[in-house]
Amino acid sequence: MKKVVISTGGGDAPGLNAVIYAVVHACYRRGWEVYGSKSGYSGFLDLDDMIQLRPKDVEGIYSTGGTILGSTNKGNPFARPVLNLAGEVQIVDVSDKILKNFNRMGFDCHIAIGGDGSLQLAQKFAEKGMPVIGVPKTIDNDLEATDRTFGFDTAVSTATDALDKLHSTAKSHDRVMVVEVMGRDSGWIALYSGISGGADVILIPEIPFDMEKVNAKISDNELRDKHYSIVVVAEGAIEKGGKVFNKGAGELGREEVILGGVGEWVAQQIRHDTEKDTRSLVLGHLQRGGSPTTFDRLLALRFGTAAVRLVEQGIFGHMVALVDSKMGAVPIADAIRARKKVNLDSDKILTARNIGICLGD
Ligand code: F6P
Repeated sequence: MKKVVISTGGGDAPGLNAVIYAVVHACYRRGWEVYGSKSGYSGFLDLDDMIQLRPKDVEGIYSTGGTILGSTNKGNPFARPVLNLAGEVQIVDVSDKILKNFNRMGFDCHIAIGGDGSLQLAQKFAEKGMPVIGVPKTIDNDLEATDRTFGFDTAVSTATDALDKLHSTAKSHDRVMVVEVMGRDSGWIALYSGISGGADVILIPEIPFDMEKVNAKISDNELRDKHYSIVVVAEGAIEKGGKVFNKGAGELGREEVILGGVGEWVAQQIRHDTEKDTRSLVLGHLQRGGSPTTFDRLLALRFGTAAVRLVEQGIFGHMVALVDSKMGAVPIADAIRARKKVNLDSDKILTARNIGICLGD
């Protein structure tokens, strides 16, 4: 009999519940027990937040968005900011307490479902002696060592659907519509949705853009009797020689700045330079919501069961991964070494260029 604990950390992504479903069912078929830690590591600190998960607790959740365990992106247990009695912020390391409670509960393994930030924490716990298995999640698809993370396909579908809808209104008003999409420092969501959604311009962090090139594409559309344009901008896109747009640090304990603002800035430049009627919108957290697509659901279910097989084999400190379409396992350390960027030699970049999409260079 084994006792497994699951946590979901970082920004939520469609497919988290499918992983939980798969882990619970695969464990119960082996006669093991499963627990879930609420809001990342909260369950390890306050045992009221540690809940047992049986098949009846996860009935039907494979098709739902979000996570039944809750998630957080401001819960680094190695450097947790807390307000002391004087109202000052103090940084506290609660990782020893977490490890102690992990052992006290008699857990054999922690399955940590998360993106870059959560897997960095998982790696630190692995180094402290906790048997950990990572499951790669992020709508941004920016984790190394796996071809795909679940959540990405759903986010791309949502963004593509939004672009499809914008064509008719842009065309009716002869307008330029600028759509800012998520992705942090990688352009995967922008590139995939932009190509599939008929964008005229796609701006990604991997290719610093030149506004003159963007405006030239819009003017060229006019010359060709196309009086509207769709511009997709990744939130982390930067102008040549410019900086990433951000909205500041956000909530206490959050480790990354909140990105955003580049879409409206690009729209203002286009409006000014081309005199075209231009509007901008931010798709934002819509990209994180809703039911996972079939692809994400299946990938999440495959990841969840693969994680349980690793527990059975006693392979810890690894992350389940999709490598060349096959399920595998890679050291967590390899997945967090660097963020995965769009390869500029890839056929997707060529596809975009070949169908006349301007990439801002
Ligand atoms: O990493 C996923 C992501 O959705 C990014 O694309 C985005 O920049 C960030 O999370 C938003 O985080 P929050 O949930 O804190 O607004």
